[in-house]
Amino acid sequence: MALKCLADDYSRYKKSFQLFLERSSEHQCMRDFIRGVLPDILASIGQGKSNLNILGVGSGAAKTFYVQYKGRSEIDLEIMSQLRLKHPGVNIDNEVVEPSEEMMLNYKALVSKSPNLEHINFNWNKMTASEFENHWRGKKLTKKMDFIHMIQMLYYVADPDATVSFFRSLLNKNGKLMIILVADKNKWGNLLKKYRKQLCQNDISQCVTTGDIKSFLDAKGIKYKNYQLPSQLDITECFKEGDERGELLLDFLTQVLNFSKTAPPDLKKGVMDFLRHPDCSEEGDGKVVFNNMLEVLVLDA
Ligand SMILES: C[S@@+](CC[C@H](N)C(=O)[O-])C[C@H]1O[C@@H](n2cnc3c(N)ncnc32)[C@H](O)[C@@H]1O
Repeated sequence: MALKCLADDYSRYKKSFQLFLERSSEHQCMRDFIRGVLPDILASIGQGKSNLNILGVGSGAAKTFYVQYKGRSEIDLEIMSQLRLKHPGVNIDNEVVEPSEEMMLNYKALVSKSPNLEHINFNWNKMTASEFENHWRGKKLTKKMDFIHMIQMLYYVADPDATVSFFRSLLNKNGKLMIILVADKNKWGNLLKKYRKQLCQNDISQCVTTGDIKSFLDAKGIKYKNYQLPSQLDITECFKEGDERGELLLDFLTQVLNFSKTAPPDLKKGVMDFLRHPDCSEEGDGKVVFNNMLEVLVLDA
C-alpha cells in the first residue's frame, strides 16, 4: 500500500517543519548570508530607480512560529530591511506568491506588527507558482522585477526548471533571481531520490537539489553565481525508538506521514542506515548531526 504524504496533513506538516527548524541551523545560516553577502547583490539592482519591484515565491511566513519562539525576524522582512539599507528612500512594490492561507496570514500579521515598512507596498497573491504564471500570462502583464527570490520552495512544484525559466523571464535587465535549496552535496536529495518509488507518490519534485538546477542552467548557458551555506540538523531523536519528536523529524525528512508507524521494516531500516551513514552525518557526544548544506544560486536576467 502506498505511504501517505506528509503534505496531506497540514497540521502535522506544520509541527514537523517547526521541529525541523528548531533542530537545524538553517535559519541562522540564511540570516548570515542575507546580512553578509546579499547586500552587495542587492546593490547591483535598480540602477538608481526610485521604485523597485520585488517578488517572493513561496514566501509564506513559515518561520513565524519559530520567530515568535526565538524572537527572530522573518526571512523576507530581513531581505526587505537589507534592500532598504542599500536603496534608502526608494519605494518598494512587493508581490507575495503563497498558496497557503495560513502562511499568508502569518506573513500579513508579521507585516502589520513590523515598523519601518512605510515605503513598501505588499500585493498578496494567494496562489501557487503555476497559478501565478497562468494569472500573469492570462492578464498579459508586462511589469518587470528587480529582485525575485524562491527560498526552499522549488521542492513543491511539478517542474522546477520550467518554474525557474518563467520567473527569470520576469526580470528587469539588471534584475536578479535568487534560489535557495538543499545543495547537491547534501545527501537528503539522494535519500529522497533513492527511495522515491517507496516514499509518498505525488507529482511534485521534492528531491530537487541545486545540482539539478545547475545542470539545467549549464545546459541552457544561463549564468549564475553560487554560494554554499553550511547547515546542520540534529537528528539524534530519530534514533530513539518511539520518540515522538524523532518521529516528527523523520516525517519531515522522508515527507511521509507517520513514517515510523507506516513504513515497511526494510524501508525503515534502509532510511535509518542511510541517515546515519558517515557520508550523511557525524556522530559524537551522543549526538547524530546530519550535514544539511544549503546552496544559493543567483541568476542574471
Ligand atoms: C519550506 S516553506 C519555505 C517558506 C519561506 N520561503 C521560508 O524560507 O521560510 C515552503 C513554502 O512554499 C509554499 N509553497 C508550497 N507549494 C507551492 C507552490 N506550488 N508554489 C508556490 N509556493 C508553494 C509553502 O506554502 C511554503 O510557504
